Amino acid sequence: MAEEIPPFREEAIFKYTQNPNPDWKFGSGLSTNTALGAQWKADEDAGWKLFDPAREEPRSIYKLMTSAIVPRPVAFVSSISAAGTPNLAPFSYFAMANHDPPMISVSINTRGDAPKDTAKNIMETKEFTVNIIAEPFVEAANFTSVEAPEYFDEWIGSGLTREPSTIIKPPRVRESAFSMECELYQSVPLVPPNKSNPTGYLIIGIVKLLHVRNAVLDKNGQVVDPHKYRSVARMGDISYSRVGEGFRLPRPPWAEVEEEYKKMKQ
Ligand SMILES: Cc1cc2nc3c(=O)[nH]c(=O)nc-3n(C[C@H](O)[C@H](O)[C@H](O)COP(=O)(O)O)c2cc1C
Repeated sequence: MAEEIPPFREEAIFKYTQNPNPDWKFGSGLSTNTALGAQWKADEDAGWKLFDPAREEPRSIYKLMTSAIVPRPVAFVSSISAAGTPNLAPFSYFAMANHDPPMISVSINTRGDAPKDTAKNIMETKEFTVNIIAEPFVEAANFTSVEAPEYFDEWIGSGLTREPSTIIKPPRVRESAFSMECELYQSVPLVPPNKSNPTGYLIIGIVKLLHVRNAVLDKNGQVVDPHKYRSVARMGDISYSRVGEGFRLPRPPWAEVEEEYKKMKQ
């Protein structure tokens, strides 16, 4: 990055604005009535560039996809090996998969031909915690991504605090505002077509218990307040992003949509 990088702004930056196009109506599509939408339309003239994974290096596809599928939440995963070695590492191929029962997915690439320690531990012991990373300890969390041998305990170098979990063995991260105690539901080896060795493992976890810091809850104590949460997301390369501005859009009620649709079809 050539531009000078200003220091981090400690103040909370999350705030609500209006949505990009408050005048959007049924069938409007791209908001060309806004400057941004008009520019977006004009940019179509530059066309599209194609990337065929069969012809590209996996590294190029990794760089492209991790820069484009953003922002990604980060699962900060604590696990323990069958032999008892604790492990802590961040993973951004992470998503909420279900809520009843609550489930999450984390995808962990192989290192060489072997599963990374986290994947191995989870497949062996069936237990892990997923902790959400926040701005006040992002450096400590990032530190744990060091490609270290299995005997290395990332907790020590990170300086983060092991908080005993309630129902499983791996501890949760005390500094995290939101932690989930998880049990392995299923692990899916991701094997490239025409190959025999997996290049990753999709770990699906069932969430048994959720811990939320009282300080980040909204006034009713039922959901997390984005103004207080300070979570970070993964962008491409070594970039992270903060949660800045938000806007609210209600989901369209079918009764209104149906009416518009009938009018349009006449
Ligand atoms: C923010 C961040 C996100 C990451 N996401 C992933 C990921 O989704 N999958 C993956 O295999 N590695 C990911 N990594 C790299 C792992 O954290 C790294 O390989 C780590 O050493 C794995 O630890 P382990 O071998 O102790 O399990 C990520 C690293 C960082 C810093």
